[in-house]
Amino acid sequence: MNLFDVYPINPVAITKAKGSTVWDAQGNEYLDLYGGHAVISIGHTHPHYLKRVTEQLAQIGFYSNSVEMPLQQQLAELLGKVSGKIDYQLFLCNSGAEANENALKLASFHNGRKKVIAFRGAFHGRTSLAVAATDHPKIVAPVNETDNVVFLPFNDVEALEHAFSTFGEEVSSVIIEGIQGVGGIRVASNEFLQKIRALTIQYGAVFIADSVQCGYGRTGRFYSHDHAGVDADIYSMAKGMGNGFPIGAIAISPAIKPWFGMLGTTFGGNHLACAAALAVLEVIQHEELMQHATEVGDYLIAELAKFAAIREVRGRGLMIGIDLPEELNTIKRDLLAKNRIFTGEAKPNVIRLLPALTITKNHADRFLEALDERLREF
Ligand SMILES: Cc1ncc(COP(=O)(O)O)c(C=O)c1O
Repeated sequence: MNLFDVYPINPVAITKAKGSTVWDAQGNEYLDLYGGHAVISIGHTHPHYLKRVTEQLAQIGFYSNSVEMPLQQQLAELLGKVSGKIDYQLFLCNSGAEANENALKLASFHNGRKKVIAFRGAFHGRTSLAVAATDHPKIVAPVNETDNVVFLPFNDVEALEHAFSTFGEEVSSVIIEGIQGVGGIRVASNEFLQKIRALTIQYGAVFIADSVQCGYGRTGRFYSHDHAGVDADIYSMAKGMGNGFPIGAIAISPAIKPWFGMLGTTFGGNHLACAAALAVLEVIQHEELMQHATEVGDYLIAELAKFAAIREVRGRGLMIGIDLPEELNTIKRDLLAKNRIFTGEAKPNVIRLLPALTITKNHADRFLEALDERLREF
């Protein structure tokens, strides 16, 4: 049997990793500023993570949600504490798409409405409603197409006000990334997020903060929407949550009430997933990684802004987009081939930095030197 060929891949097989360093099968060393797509939050093979996950595996790895699981309650409490949303309720699942799917569904259960407002450039996942709310027609299958989702321009307060004044009573939810990731590292303005908050309250709609990529401390605040000083009704999360162990979740405002059977999952919230997620939060807390992400992120953004060849530097903390002119579209590939540095990308010419929150200033300098070297070739 062959693999279903859907991924354009880099010609590297990674066999070993530690912190922000990974090694290929030939023993070559690479700097990882991509974190497997914002997933590696506390660094590869972190000792505390290894210990907690292996100890848990030796005890029990999985049981379904039909029995008591104190680990889930511990996770809910610690997540509430670290995120500052102490009175929210936690529902655990397995991925970002699943988290958004549940968030959109829950909003509709809550207010009995059908319309979803999403934004141009948005990416919310590949399952049915999550993909329908994703602004990428090529990955929306005919069966996922729906009139229930309305796309509005990103950061356009007037268009949002107009939409609510036209059909606000029908809106079930508004879903927005605090910083669009796949869309090219575009930061939602504070004014825009505050307007979403005000209008969703006024019209009885649910504010869903997709924090799958921009959340979990990456921007220096636990949820990047926090920078706007607003509380959403539901936060979806995944990626950095398990540092590579598949886990997703939604944190739900106390105003939204559950009933038995409303949501459910077989794997979500299993023992091993909870142990991984607890280890991540413990490290974020113990190593003060949100503060660290702000410091290293601010440094990187300030230094990047000095490069004349870069069109624009966008982002916050350790979620950074380097927008390059078309003629420099080979830089990302060259950084990997010539400097052995992994970075991410967003179409058409944006290099995305999504490193572990533990990266050091030395790592940042190594990247800045390599980028300088690459840019000088042009
Ligand atoms: C903002 C955002 N939401 C949702 C998802 C989907 O997450 P997953 O791939 O875990 O389903 C992604 C994935 O890149 C994302 O960036």
